Amino acid sequence: MENPKNISLKGRSFLTLKDFTADEIQYLLDLAADLKAKKKQGITGNSLKGKNIALIFEKPSTRTRSSFTVGAIDEGGHPEYLGRDDIQLGHKETVEDTARVLGRIFDGIEFRGFKQETVEKLAKYSGVPVWNGLTDDYHPTQILADFLTIMEQFGHLKGIKLVFVGDGRNNMANSLMIGSAKMGLDFCILAPKELWPGEELVNLCNEYAKESGAKITVSDDLDVVKGADVIYTDVWASMGEEEKAAERIKLLTPYQVNSALMARTGKDSTIFMHCLPAVREHEVTTEIMDKFSDVVFDEAENRMHTIKAVMVATLGNI
Ligand code: CP
Ligand code: NVA
Repeated sequence: MENPKNISLKGRSFLTLKDFTADEIQYLLDLAADLKAKKKQGITGNSLKGKNIALIFEKPSTRTRSSFTVGAIDEGGHPEYLGRDDIQLGHKETVEDTARVLGRIFDGIEFRGFKQETVEKLAKYSGVPVWNGLTDDYHPTQILADFLTIMEQFGHLKGIKLVFVGDGRNNMANSLMIGSAKMGLDFCILAPKELWPGEELVNLCNEYAKESGAKITVSDDLDVVKGADVIYTDVWASMGEEEKAAERIKLLTPYQVNSALMARTGKDSTIFMHCLPAVREHEVTTEIMDKFSDVVFDEAENRMHTIKAVMVATLGNI
């Protein structure tokens, strides 16, 4: 792969997109596209040969776990799944001590769980690259898969109008806003006021936007979808918030992605995206899920290629 700007992410952790420049994000997307093209030709690599990778999961996962596992093995690495009840993390010993131990034994660590603080401590005390596989606050690897999919669909990211509809203060909304602000998209959050993102993060993203030419809008007006290239949604109640499900159904039913909302874009070319898992007939109708299944499942597949790129770029011999 060409790397004209000589970008190297060797030894870096991947905790939030805030820590990465637009060039670095583009480099990861280009590397993922390259690894994907190679895999389609039956070519896998050896860049993670001899690397042992810990996969810590406090919360369940289909796509992220599978992507780290297959991505590591495709490149010759060894992934080891450490589930919530398998290890002591934060129960019997401190996160810092677990981090110190895992850093002695493993070459890289993936963490999915509740607190962003935990993944940051793992990175600080393990001394090896740590990758955020989702926390309550952020889901940065998902954004790489989403942006690779948008590039495949539209050929570019800059200026794409991306509207996130639903829980505007969850990990997906936060990370899409950061990624869009860095990469110059026209990004909107469409959500009831109760579920708007934190002001501090919106202000930070507006700062990024000054450099990239991005536009950030937060609105509760359904007409904000007008002209959208992408309508994106996520579950109404995230992992760990299950007790809020009834309240969310009440708040978010007017914001369901259905054929009426898609028509409101005024464009035939608008695509629908979802990070999955999807609760059909809640945040999106089965009709829309099925209509855009090619895009949504490309997006899911792209989790693997992009997560592989993150591991290869930060830990691999390239
Ligand atoms: N999109 C995503 O992170 O899926 P999983 O929860 O299945 O990993
Ligand atoms: N917001 C969702 C994302 C799932 C990939 C959750 O945290 O459950």
